[in-house]
Amino acid sequence: MENYKLFINGEFVDAASGKTFEAIDPGTEQPIATVAQAGKADAEAAITAARKAFDSGIWSGLVPAARLAKLQDFADQMAQQGLRLAATESMNAGQVINLAKVMPLLCIGYARNISHYAAAKFPWEEEILASGNAFGPGREFIRREPIGVCVGIIPWNFPMLMAIWKMIPALATGNTVVIKPASYTPLTALILAEAAKAAGIPNGVVNVIPGSGGEVGKILCTHPDVDKIAFTGSTAVGREIMRMGSATVKKVTLELGGKSANIILDDADMDLAVEGATYGTFSHQGQICESGTRVLVSSKIYDQFIEMFKKRAEALRVGYQMHPTSHMGPLVSKEQLATVEGYVKMGKEEGAELITGGKRAEVQGIKGGYYYAPTIFANVKNKMRIAQEEIFGPVVCVIKYDSDEEAVAIANDSIYGLGGGVFSSNTARAERVARGVRTGTMWINNYHIFSDFCPFGGYKQSGVGRELGAAGLHEYTQVKRVHVNYAADRNTNMNFALMSDNKKIEGFSYNCPTNVVGGHGALSSIYKEVTNLGCRRALILTDPGVRKAGLADLVKNALVDFCVGIHDKIPPDPDLESVDAAVEAARELRADCIVSGGGGSVIDTAKGACVTLKNGGKANDHLNFLVLTEPQTPHIAIPTTAGTGSEVTNAAVLTSKGAGRKLFIIDTHIMPNTAILDPRFTMTLPKGLTVSTGMDAMTHAVEALTSIMSNQICDGQALHAIRLISENMPLVVADGKNEKARLNMQIAATMAGWAFTIAQVGLAHGMAHTAGALHHVPHGAACGIVLPKVMRFNVDHSADKLALVAQALGVNTKGMKERDAALAAADAVEALMKKVGHPMRLRGVGVPEDGLMMCAFHAIADTVDLFNARPVSDPMEVLEIYKQAY
Ligand SMILES: NC(=O)c1ccc[n+]([C@@H]2O[C@H](COP(=O)([O-])OP(=O)(O)OC[C@H]3O[C@@H](n4cnc5c(N)ncnc54)[C@H](O)[C@@H]3O)[C@@H](O)[C@H]2O)c1
Repeated sequence: MENYKLFINGEFVDAASGKTFEAIDPGTEQPIATVAQAGKADAEAAITAARKAFDSGIWSGLVPAARLAKLQDFADQMAQQGLRLAATESMNAGQVINLAKVMPLLCIGYARNISHYAAAKFPWEEEILASGNAFGPGREFIRREPIGVCVGIIPWNFPMLMAIWKMIPALATGNTVVIKPASYTPLTALILAEAAKAAGIPNGVVNVIPGSGGEVGKILCTHPDVDKIAFTGSTAVGREIMRMGSATVKKVTLELGGKSANIILDDADMDLAVEGATYGTFSHQGQICESGTRVLVSSKIYDQFIEMFKKRAEALRVGYQMHPTSHMGPLVSKEQLATVEGYVKMGKEEGAELITGGKRAEVQGIKGGYYYAPTIFANVKNKMRIAQEEIFGPVVCVIKYDSDEEAVAIANDSIYGLGGGVFSSNTARAERVARGVRTGTMWINNYHIFSDFCPFGGYKQSGVGRELGAAGLHEYTQVKRVHVNYAADRNTNMNFALMSDNKKIEGFSYNCPTNVVGGHGALSSIYKEVTNLGCRRALILTDPGVRKAGLADLVKNALVDFCVGIHDKIPPDPDLESVDAAVEAARELRADCIVSGGGGSVIDTAKGACVTLKNGGKANDHLNFLVLTEPQTPHIAIPTTAGTGSEVTNAAVLTSKGAGRKLFIIDTHIMPNTAILDPRFTMTLPKGLTVSTGMDAMTHAVEALTSIMSNQICDGQALHAIRLISENMPLVVADGKNEKARLNMQIAATMAGWAFTIAQVGLAHGMAHTAGALHHVPHGAACGIVLPKVMRFNVDHSADKLALVAQALGVNTKGMKERDAALAAADAVEALMKKVGHPMRLRGVGVPEDGLMMCAFHAIADTVDLFNARPVSDPMEVLEIYKQAY
């Protein structure tokens, strides 16, 4: 008789106590080996060895390819031990030799497949290209790292395969392991330890310690140096393991019991279905957790099925497991045999109809052994305990049902959800049934088929986590997020600024990819622009006003044969449905690019449409901040209002009816590819809109300049925009056909757009957004009205910048104190507004006086306030500004 020792820290050793126990052949009840019995001291030694090995980095610190090389050696060593592994598994676990002989092959195949996947394809490090956080510019990546010391607690039904299912993913991901085989079946795990040693896996990385669950298991599940427990076994023990692991918050994966439903539909191939039920239930004497032990049979075929199933079960040969003709061997132990006998007795008492088996099986020439005949109960009700509790033996419950829906309901009426099957000649119908069952695995016209790359695990009380495949590897890693600050400067950190009096953000990233073509006749460049974008089918988006002014037709003519249509249904302040309608038109016409001709409303609709066309679905799916990672559907923008700058900004402002307000897409990738600034497109703009959109651009420029995010590039753009607006707005108001002045206003709006995209805006925008959302005040008009008041509010926080605004507005600031010059800037803005006939008071644009308080409360929560020169946190201060503007 062979003697097996514990494997701790790379050595085969006796138990500290010197205790041994006998491993039994369940087919003869004879001892086949003595095994050292681990106790508390041995468990602690194994944990310490695994901890030291892990912390030393001898294994966890290897690159995945180096671990792969060692694990391939391990697989080779298993192959060398293949015959011994198969024979020992059969003899110790009672697996018939025809099954046990494939186990080494499965183990080796899995080890090679998963180790290679872990080295070659597992996402160890992943760049997060779009973080979705606008306030922490930087590189974001995640790493997957090993967890540490992983305990594997192995069941007695498939001792070798289950040990490998625990060891390989743990080792391939850099962990160290302590494996505790079941007391009944300790041998093959110790042979695997020999293979690991022979392969040169470093000492302490693999430890195998057979011992009792009560003693060794308890230490493994509570020891503070253990990081993870992976357990396969009964649900009752799984609960206990979770409870024990909770004190030190161990990661726990559990693969537990089942009472899986194998559903035979009325159109099933009967021979196949009977075979599936037979194999699905009686394979390895029913000691498989995902066995289909509830066979649900349609009432239409029930009698025929029962007759065939009985015949098939009775034809199974129960015999000594090492005998090559045996279909079924012994149960694993006397205790398991007693459990099975108890359940059969219970089934009879519950009123189920025993149609075959129900007794021990005699095996010729052998005295003893835990053999039990394949047993079928018919007319089982799902409420019976034999249908609800896991028996883990060759006992099957056949349950009758009338409809597919009822079959699914019965299948789901269980605390378990591990496996299951459907037999049908109609795959679509079978898949429908399979989708309805709440379980971790469903086989259609098959059973007990595992695949290295397909996850296995339980729903409900059948388990936590998954084994096998990529999912199984993830269970042995933890995720670390690493943020690398791009703006590693004390004064460039948006978050640190929250606790600092210095709110100025000094770093910046300047990204304005739009190609701008400007000047008289710039429209004629459009054909070439479309060609350069690789497009052929342009859809023009516009609105009725712009179309009526003849501007859409100008664009159509310039596009010549590239224009596939004009969609002119875009309303002012468009909503998500406006975008969806534009997308529908583009899809119908198979447009490959969008040309937007209009103000902010049209251009923003086009931006939303380009994102939706590229990514599918509806516009509402794409409202977001900084999530796009690649160029969107090509877009050429032709602004017609000289206000928003949308032709070069990273924003699309869209009203959501669901949210009851304007929402945004903010992303570099929505900046149009090309902006065409052709003065002919703004010459038809009526005076009122000329003025209000001009003040929108002015507000962008002033707020970008004074924002805490301002920078030298944007300052230059903003100041020049202010200069251009102050000089040209009176000219275009006096003469809408003044082409040069119109072009200058367009250039100003574009420059202000660039400036605010990079440097952001401030409180005037926050207040205008609110007045727009609550009282439908046009954005440009609201911006203009509150802008001078906000400039005065900010005077002590950006006097230097506001003094520059005064100069750009033509104020002679010579000899003035900076603060006075700053205040003069606000006066000059008001003077300009009066000169061009801009509304001066909120009362004149539809805001009720008793609405101001509510406006103030909403306005202080607007994101743009974060960038305002002076901190905004008191609604009363904002109310005061609203009152001044009223
Ligand atoms: N994306 C951004 O960066 C950004 C910035 C600020 C504002 N916005 C948004 O832009 C929208 C406002 O845009 P807008 O101010 O450009 O106005 P708009 O696009 O809503 O147009 C207003 C009206 O002017 C008419 N019109 C436009 N051009 C004309 C022309 N040349 N001749 C005759 N009529 C003409 C239109 O038919 C329309 O009825 C708002 O929804 C606002 O929230 C976007």
